[in-house]
Amino acid sequence: MSRSANALKDHDAGPAAYDATPYLPERGGLPAHRRASAECRGCPLFERATWTVFGKGTSTARIVLVGEQPGDQEDRRGEPFVGPAGRLLDKALTEAGIDRDSTYVTNAVKHFKFVLAENGKRRIHKAPDLRELTACRPWLQAELRLIRPDVVVALGATAGKALLGRSFRVAKDRGTLIPLPDEDGREAEAGGRWVVATLHPSAVLRSDDRDAAYAGLVADLEVAARALREGR
Ligand code: URA
Repeated sequence: MSRSANALKDHDAGPAAYDATPYLPERGGLPAHRRASAECRGCPLFERATWTVFGKGTSTARIVLVGEQPGDQEDRRGEPFVGPAGRLLDKALTEAGIDRDSTYVTNAVKHFKFVLAENGKRRIHKAPDLRELTACRPWLQAELRLIRPDVVVALGATAGKALLGRSFRVAKDRGTLIPLPDEDGREAEAGGRWVVATLHPSAVLRSDDRDAAYAGLVADLEVAARALREGR
């Protein structure tokens, strides 16, 4: 039985079995991982999404931005952050002095999760649950292992939980340098790499006070930009 057939068997075995690990290549860089992710069946989200939206950007990036999951437009185009949230993110990055072309942008979950609107036409984003987030984490860990950035920006609560654990709260933890834990969740040694958490750009778009929320996003990104400049 092939590796993926085996994994599908595990997947059918029940709730505990959501896991992308069997689909990761044993070797190779980002291109090999991107190719392999297209076949991921580690959780049921692949069934309805158009395709896997893997991260995009340079493998030498010193900064990685992590969102929640692809949205409707990202699912159609196969690239992260190319819709309205992405346009807002681009603007905020520029204001914070970060060039998007020098970053790597990805999501905690690589498939679009949605419900259909009542008219059956519009696809409405639905947040991934903890099992889907956990299942997809091996892809994010592999991206971080291959890129080894100095700073990782968690855009919103889902990305924060994927990087820092379930106790992460964006309101409490945003805008400061937090040591990036190792893959087992243990605190990294001093002088290691950093996570800066901030609001998700979609939360800024939905905010009643959009100007204040946007200013907060830019201020948090400036913390990340400063850490890069100062090499800490
Ligand atoms: N929201 C996300 O979290 N990621 C995307 O790629 C687009 C919207």
